[in-house]
Amino acid sequence: MNSAEKFKYYKQIIEDNLDFGTKLVHDQSKNVGEAMLYSLSAGGKRLRPALVMSACEFAGGKAEDALVHALAIEYIHTYSLLHDDLPAIDNDDLRRGRPTNHKVFGEAMAILAGDALLNTAMDIMLSDTVKNIDCQDLFKRKVLATREISRAAGVNGMIGGQVADVENEGKKASKELLQYIHENKTGAMIVGAVRAGAFIGGTTEEELEDLTRFASYLGLAFQIRDDILDIEGDAAKLGKNIGRDIELEKSTYPVIYGMEESKRKFNELNDAAINILEKYGERATFFIDLIKMMSIREK
Ligand code: IPE
Ligand code: IPE
Ligand code: MG
Ligand code: MG
Ligand code: MG
Repeated sequence: MNSAEKFKYYKQIIEDNLDFGTKLVHDQSKNVGEAMLYSLSAGGKRLRPALVMSACEFAGGKAEDALVHALAIEYIHTYSLLHDDLPAIDNDDLRRGRPTNHKVFGEAMAILAGDALLNTAMDIMLSDTVKNIDCQDLFKRKVLATREISRAAGVNGMIGGQVADVENEGKKASKELLQYIHENKTGAMIVGAVRAGAFIGGTTEEELEDLTRFASYLGLAFQIRDDILDIEGDAAKLGKNIGRDIELEKSTYPVIYGMEESKRKFNELNDAAINILEKYGERATFFIDLIKMMSIREK
């Protein structure tokens, strides 16, 4: 299997199991269950779950062992998008090629569906972890992975970045603050995905350190590309409207550094990410190819 096929394979496992948590929703709450599944099943690159499963394999585990944590991170990521699109945050009406959740289900249900995706993610990760309680080693690894994902999504991770993003609308952030925003609102979940997968796979300290540095470069580069695509991208391909960053006066890489310098920084980060893992030879092929795939992505 080449790397593109591998990515497709991970994506397929995720899509086949997207209702893993939503099918647990009781009948009384079926409207919120429907709203959850609406945003989950709309499509998306499934980058974060692919990172969880590939990092698990890299560290010596089986992708399937990391499936529930991979699903959980996609739930959390989807909730972050759903809330990011709300009128109080970015006020967007198109996401993953569909009208945004609040446009279809109303704001109250969209808020609750986001909350429910987050809590369901925690529930499925912990239930899966508890299932391994008699297998000391895997139990411990899954506890560490669960903590990793919870933290990445939290106030010193994705939420922290979103807070700074919102607080700095209409202002020109310093370069340090811009980096903080990007490393947290987007980078944290990408780093969390890789570290969680690595834990489940039984990583060594050295591998974990290298994977963490790799993922932090990937995460920052990923958000720089997102900023660039908000200017140069095609809404039909992206499945979301462009130009919102300028309208909302967000601090983005193109705003703070200019387009040319943003692209240079983007390439530099990709090269740095590749360099870190090159010493692993063939084992790192998927990650290295992933950097290349993400560097030319148009959606
Ligand atoms: C969009 O994430 C929001 C960012 C953190 C940049 P993705 O570009 O991964 O969105 P999907 O999951 O493919 O829809
Ligand atoms: C959002 O960043 C990051 C999240 C935590 C959801 P953006 O606001 O730039 O993401 P898009 O462009 O709406 O996907
Ligand atoms: Mg936003
Ligand atoms: Mg947004
Ligand atoms: Mg954006």
